[in-house]
Amino acid sequence: MQVITIDGPAGAGKSTLSRRLAAELGWTYLDTGAMYRAVGWAARRRGVDPADPAALEELCRGLRLELEGGRVLADGVDVTGEIRTPEVDALASAVSRNPEVRRRLSRLQRELGARGRVVAEGRDMGTVVFPDAAVKFFVTASVAERAARRRRQLLEKGRDVPEAELRRQIRDRDAADASRRVSPLRPAADAVIIDTTGQDLEASLAALLDVVRERLQGR
Ligand code: DC
Repeated sequence: MQVITIDGPAGAGKSTLSRRLAAELGWTYLDTGAMYRAVGWAARRRGVDPADPAALEELCRGLRLELEGGRVLADGVDVTGEIRTPEVDALASAVSRNPEVRRRLSRLQRELGARGRVVAEGRDMGTVVFPDAAVKFFVTASVAERAARRRRQLLEKGRDVPEAELRRQIRDRDAADASRRVSPLRPAADAVIIDTTGQDLEASLAALLDVVRERLQGR
């Protein structure tokens, strides 16, 4: 199967690495977090409580999601910018706990993956959605490193949040992600673990490319 999966917790450098890897290979980048974000965004827009399974499932059944060239469209509306806010972070996390939402988005992800030459980034790509992927990665970093990166990102947006507070948030979110009933965050048994702690982007990318070239050779 011509799919490379990249899973891991928030803040480990997964998105940048996935995007860069896809560009290096000339493959398509599939951002599955953006899909959960778009559902969260649509829930807010239509006044649907993410904790109400029936309403959320109905919303999801009627929602048309499109991913085109780095843009995300929900019912034809370009939501690419609007889904990257702290409010949508929380909504995406809430809707991602619903099994029916996961089932629908997973089906869409498999349809897109079936086109081949796809780098699929998320939390359950190697474990649930693409168990037969050609290469699987689990990208991680220490809590301290992820908190430091998050702090820099927030400072760029003019928000000064103490690092201790960010470390606490990250630990809480990791615990919630790893213990959720549906598709808990964990590495696939055959995933290559990439720890980006203390590594710059180029070094991590080189490590990924080495593995990919070795695995894809002769396929
Ligand atoms: O990677 P991200 O921050 O854009 O993901 C947004 C939310 O969606 C986050 O709470 C994790 C969830 N998610 C998921 O449950 N499964 C995926 N395959 C991708 C994201």
